[in-house]
Amino acid sequence: MSQNISSVLVENRVFKPSKDFAKRARISSMEQYRKMWKESIAKPDRFWAREAADLVWQKKWTKVLDWKLPFAKWFVGGKLNVSENCLDRHLGTARQNKAAIIWEGEPGEKRVLTYQQLHREVCKFANVLKRNGAKKGDRVIIYMPMIPEAAVAMLACARVGAVHSVVFGGFSADSIKDRIEDCGASLVVTADGGYRRGSIVPLKKNVDDALKAGGKNIKKVIVFKRAGNDIHIEEGRDVWWHREMEYVDAKCPPTALDSEHPLFILYTSGSTGKPKGILHTTAGYLIQCYTTCKYVFDLRDEDVYWCTADIGWVTGHSYIVYGPLSMGATAFMYEGAPNWPENDRFWRLIDEYKVTVFYTAPTAIRAFIRWGDEWVTKHDLSSLRLLGTVGEPINPEAWMWYHKLIGGGRCPIVDTWWQTETGGHMITPFPGATPTKPGTATLPFFGVDAAIVDDDGKEVPMNVGGKLVIRKPWPGMLRSIYGDKARYKQTYWSEVKGSYFAGDGARRDKDGYFWIVGRIDDVLNVAGHRIGTAELESVLVSHPAVAEAAVVGRPDELKGQAIVCFVTVKNGQQAHPELREELRKYVRHVIGPVATPDDIRFAEALPKTRSGKIMRRLLKQVASGQVVTGDTTTLEDLGVLAKLANDD
Ligand code: PRX
Repeated sequence: MSQNISSVLVENRVFKPSKDFAKRARISSMEQYRKMWKESIAKPDRFWAREAADLVWQKKWTKVLDWKLPFAKWFVGGKLNVSENCLDRHLGTARQNKAAIIWEGEPGEKRVLTYQQLHREVCKFANVLKRNGAKKGDRVIIYMPMIPEAAVAMLACARVGAVHSVVFGGFSADSIKDRIEDCGASLVVTADGGYRRGSIVPLKKNVDDALKAGGKNIKKVIVFKRAGNDIHIEEGRDVWWHREMEYVDAKCPPTALDSEHPLFILYTSGSTGKPKGILHTTAGYLIQCYTTCKYVFDLRDEDVYWCTADIGWVTGHSYIVYGPLSMGATAFMYEGAPNWPENDRFWRLIDEYKVTVFYTAPTAIRAFIRWGDEWVTKHDLSSLRLLGTVGEPINPEAWMWYHKLIGGGRCPIVDTWWQTETGGHMITPFPGATPTKPGTATLPFFGVDAAIVDDDGKEVPMNVGGKLVIRKPWPGMLRSIYGDKARYKQTYWSEVKGSYFAGDGARRDKDGYFWIVGRIDDVLNVAGHRIGTAELESVLVSHPAVAEAAVVGRPDELKGQAIVCFVTVKNGQQAHPELREELRKYVRHVIGPVATPDDIRFAEALPKTRSGKIMRRLLKQVASGQVVTGDTTTLEDLGVLAKLANDD
């Protein structure tokens, strides 16, 4: 039976790690956590040098940190290769023939790649990249389904020093084109199609459309045959992955790259109409991924670790590929939807593969609750030892359900707060040490100096809400917005002097725990995905029938936030239901299915202040059906509001 998840549960219980868990954990007490955290803040050089010594360096660094606010360089003078750290260093050890990736396709195919096999695939594909003109520093777009080859392509880029930019398969042709053009990519790696809920997503077709619309810099498209759907092959430009792999040999030494060599660019929404290319570099990013997998997931050789994110998001980068593989762990990877062919696919997989560590998003947990407990209880989930969440605040009901039904009451839950920009976990429990409370990401990770401040940058008292900031550089931090240092400075380092402003609001409780409230900028968090309202608005107003648009979020039981668009039409245009459907399709077409509006409301005018600013606070209240409260004296036309509220 499905449960009612709309009730507001107040959960005051504190959940302490069990003695058994703590006994084996790398961080096994709060004293140990506090001591290490203090050292990481007071003596970051010493702390991070010790962690960095776990990795393989082709040349040792000369200085741990060079910080010229807001620009950081970590492990200055060092040289290393990320793919060597994820692969080569496990060869010749007991891990050589251990599963690196265990994969299941949505239709049910199964594959296992050992470290040895993955290494071979990556070396060969690195040679394919070179054969097709990719050189150190060149940008490569990866637009792939959730198959091992997505990881192979990323690691192969890292091996030759090419910079990957993975585009999530739920983004459209236009979004691919924009990203190609913004980063100046010369190569695309894609597949004919991928499976999602029983259908084939036409990935190659989307790439073709992107390249028809622009992206003239693209010289080659490498296509992996996954779904067998019919595709167009452009002679001279498009080549098949499997053919290319026949021409190359399996030797490809890892290129020695500077610590600050760019590893990837990942686009994410901000508060302007244009997604930002978040730039991550080599050494610091890898250390953030490695140390968080080591201390937060506390990964062990015998673990089967499953992160359900898509490789197109940062979670997939850090916690499917770079973190687990640098630890020599076994990562499980699944291609498709959680409710295909039935609602218990995930539990079936955990049972079959004996998954031990499971990392997913609150929005998914809320869907599982709605589908009903019986899908869970018919499977044996006793292999699980640790659970994690990421992407949005978790409501206590979902936390408790996750704890009881999935974790059997015995698995600690790590609620990990972080962002595309931070590279890895920033605020998180340590599963063998931190007492957890449902709904809080608890305390900062090593090296993270987090605080909550008011508009003047002053730290706020206990339980008072404010802006979440980070006051010191950390290894996995973004280095810039690709090609736009001024925007990097402006976006992240100008709101609160001397600090990184994350865009989130939060408060701290009496134990110093951080309770993240959510975005306080104009960015929505829809099912754990970031969508900028300005981006949606600029798409809507580019439609010929639309005069003005304002987009706000509405609380949503399942997705966290739903997208509500207020639209005024141009003179002579009719606001009819077909136009509503057309606009919904139009947004899907331009940005992709992830950004599909939930609600489009036509209005005669949008409520504005006398200076012409759209009053979003009011629109949010209208969208969520609340009575509008607060100061409306500056409203240009109060009648506008009444009309908006009455719209269906
Ligand atoms: O608002 C916060 C929310 O997700 C945002 C970052 O989104 P993105 O860059 O797409 O990365 C998602 C995966 C790391 C944050 O600004 N967020 C992420 N994790 C949490 C969270 N909010 C509350 N609790 C979390 N654990």
